[in-house]
Amino acid sequence: MELVQAIENRVSIRNFSAEAVSKKDLEELVRRAALAPSINNAQPWKFLVITRRSLLKEMGEAVSKAVGEIPVAEREGPGKAFLSRIEWFSTFFEDAPAVIALLMQPYVSVLETGSGFTHEEVDNMRNRPDMQTAGAAVENILLSAVDLGLGACWLSAPMIAREELERLLGVEEPYKLINFVAVGKPFGAPAKKNKKPLNEILQFIE
Ligand SMILES: Cc1cc2nc3c(=O)[nH]c(=O)nc-3n(C[C@H](O)[C@H](O)[C@H](O)COP(=O)(O)O)c2cc1C
Repeated sequence: MELVQAIENRVSIRNFSAEAVSKKDLEELVRRAALAPSINNAQPWKFLVITRRSLLKEMGEAVSKAVGEIPVAEREGPGKAFLSRIEWFSTFFEDAPAVIALLMQPYVSVLETGSGFTHEEVDNMRNRPDMQTAGAAVENILLSAVDLGLGACWLSAPMIAREELERLLGVEEPYKLINFVAVGKPFGAPAKKNKKPLNEILQFIE
């Protein structure tokens, strides 16, 4: 598939058919994720690919519980619709055929070893290069999913239960759970893209 086609066809997929994703495709998604640029080429990532239904269910339950504990003033009023929307966006991954969990370990920048800057100072100065690195890897997964005839959705909402999810997944220091990508064959028609026009977001400085 042409790159531009994958970019144009990609939308967040949250409804999946029950069909399993092959191990070969899952490996290929991670292989391509790891070709992404990373801060100082640190490649600080690790990818867990979860297909075990019982574990996905436990993970979904942990997130539901955390969402249920969000302090919302009127749980039975306007807050109810708000909470059920948040819950759906945070937990639909449990029904996905596969979920890729991105783990990252802290990077050590050239600047902090060669100067008096602390890690936190470098991190602020360079605008969270670890998170920028994570984004690059995830985008490779999303575009590659389209290329392989799959659908995917990036999820950070489940991180509301990060500690419990890390426990369930056996994530150990120095790694930290960053996000999930739900993957599978799309079910039903995906929503149309609703994107800002170019003239609203582009400015040439010549
Ligand atoms: C950092 C990040 C976190 C996201 N987290 C979630 C999430 O937790 N749950 C979800 O359903 N979608 C999540 N999304 C998907 C966005 O909602 C989606 O990209 C956006 O609505 C635009 O739609 P599109 O991806 O179809 O273009 C996330 C996207 C990004 C970039």
